[in-house]
Amino acid sequence: MSSEKMNNQHNCKSGDESTQQFAGRVRSMINGGATALALSIGAHHGIFEVMDTPKTSVQIAESLGLKERYVREWLHAMVASRIVEMNEEMGTYHVPPNRFPLLVGKFNIAAMATLVPMLCEAYDQVSDCFKTDGPQGVAYDQYPKFQDFMHYMSNIMHNKTLLTDFVGSVPELEELLETGVTVLDVGCGKGRAPMILAQKFPRSSFYGIDISASAISAAQIEAEEMSLTNIHFQVHDAASLPCDWTDKFEYVTALDCIHDQAEPLQVLHEIRRVLKPGGTFSMLEIAGSSRPNCNIGNPRAIDGYVISLFHCMPVSLYFDGGKGLGTMWGRENVLQVLEECGFSEIIVRKSRDSFNYHFVSKSHKCPAH
Ligand SMILES: C[S@@+](CC[C@H](N)C(=O)[O-])C[C@H]1O[C@@H](n2cnc3c(N)ncnc32)[C@H](O)[C@@H]1O
Repeated sequence: MSSEKMNNQHNCKSGDESTQQFAGRVRSMINGGATALALSIGAHHGIFEVMDTPKTSVQIAESLGLKERYVREWLHAMVASRIVEMNEEMGTYHVPPNRFPLLVGKFNIAAMATLVPMLCEAYDQVSDCFKTDGPQGVAYDQYPKFQDFMHYMSNIMHNKTLLTDFVGSVPELEELLETGVTVLDVGCGKGRAPMILAQKFPRSSFYGIDISASAISAAQIEAEEMSLTNIHFQVHDAASLPCDWTDKFEYVTALDCIHDQAEPLQVLHEIRRVLKPGGTFSMLEIAGSSRPNCNIGNPRAIDGYVISLFHCMPVSLYFDGGKGLGTMWGRENVLQVLEECGFSEIIVRKSRDSFNYHFVSKSHKCPAH
């Protein structure tokens, strides 16, 4: 038996577990979900920010201009979740120093919990989609918090890894960007990734496109505030890019956005069209297998499938003929589709945090493509 086959069998094993153990596991999952909801309220109101020293619920509420009764109930949920500590004698609450840095500031972990209410914005609509006579999918505008949430996540991820891990994993990319080339980011959202690149590589010219007018407008404002003159943000549907962009770009990126597309194959064909012959395409997708059993134990799999179910898949299926690939369409499917769309010399790298696969490929075209 090949080592790959053995490895897959091992990954697919469900393991021995008593009914009681299973009950405990399910209960702790539900508790985790409930805690996430409360954490997100704490992050939203900045409550953790004032909790480095012991304070009463009245002091906490007053310092933030919040209602004491709500703050107190929230504090007790945090005490039960062992995030906040309470001194019963003094009636005070605080976050211990080893936890505090992870719960405050612009890039704190607690803010990731805002994922839960963001997904629940369209809970009823998604639930209706399950019914055979229900809608096909859910429109983007049913998720008003989505672009802000995505921007927050992109800030964390791209600030940490884009210039090192990401650029470094594409052969000769840094030299190319330093020389001065034209780059396109497809589905750029509020444009964090191309802005980081535009700032670092002033000789290159960057384009960011997205179907969301509000995201593009926010990106344009931020680029202006940063005085970036080598970046252009435009609203476009990635499935039909401008006709005069054929062979325009040396490098194209699509970061965590191909699985969201209604027409992913058409988008990949468009990317090939606008790439110069021999140009490079970087695609970031969640690190997962196309085989669900093989995702057991994968740290990104649970939130990947749930994000998919409550957002990525329904927004794609909303459009007529939408493919609904799903966030976890997986490495095997991605490789097959890239090859079918004519990309070659494909290499796959796992990001340093193991959360994403970075698929780097080339677009070799015959002269009369
Ligand atoms: C998961 S977000 C990723 C955003 C960004 N790449 C990042 O890393 O933060 C997917 C993005 O794809 C955009 N999108 C979806 N369908 C699109 C289409 N047909 N054309 C252009 N953008 C699209 C969405 O509006 C959204 O901003």
